[in-house]
Amino acid sequence: MKKSEVIFKKFERFWHWGQALLVLLLIVSGLEIHSIISLFGFELSTNLHDIAGFLWVIIVIMIFTWFVSADQWRQFRPSRHGMDAVIRYYLYGVFVGEKHPHKVSAQSKFNPLQRMAYLGLLFILVPLQILSGLTYFFFPELKALGLIQQVDWVAQLHTLIAYLMIAFLIVHLYLITLGEKLTSHLKAMLTGSE
Ligand code: HEM
Repeated sequence: MKKSEVIFKKFERFWHWGQALLVLLLIVSGLEIHSIISLFGFELSTNLHDIAGFLWVIIVIMIFTWFVSADQWRQFRPSRHGMDAVIRYYLYGVFVGEKHPHKVSAQSKFNPLQRMAYLGLLFILVPLQILSGLTYFFFPELKALGLIQQVDWVAQLHTLIAYLMIAFLIVHLYLITLGEKLTSHLKAMLTGSE
């Protein structure tokens, strides 16, 4: 009989789904601010974008506090160990029904590719996106203090990272369907156990 193990703790599931909801709202409202879609109207989209952005700051501070207090940052330490097998699996093994080479456990939740992707996302893209968003929001105050003169490059960086996050989300949604069953990974992030 297969044993199930808690992989994603309660708080982790809370922050994942909280962050996912906010990021989806930020993407949709951001696309409307750029006139790419039309949904809530420009004014409501701007307000929703600002509110979701500040709520995201709060959740991200909670996530990083938890990474340190629960010693979880170790899960994201990059490692080349087993990388070749994982790349071979995604390029070939997955199409011929091979088993995933990485054994998931509470101590090692992520395979080497996930470690790299989540490290880049959570420790580089998310902080940069929040910092560029805050700089854009508080530009008049920062300019009055003489800290920054131009905001164009900040807006361009903010938009570039938004598109990188949309690309992450597309790959993320594809990869989570590659568990033992189509919904195994989704079930793990909903119930905690795999
Ligand atoms: C609504 C769409 C989403 C779904 C259905 C979803 C689903 C999942 C699932 C099933 C996992 C576990 C995957 C695994 O076992 O490898 C996971 C992990 C993760 N997802 Fe998502 N996700 C979504 C959106 C997002 C968004 C928008 C972000 C961030 C911007 C995100 C960031 C992450 C991160 C960082 C992890 C690793 C969690 C950890 O540290 O334990 N996800 N997601």
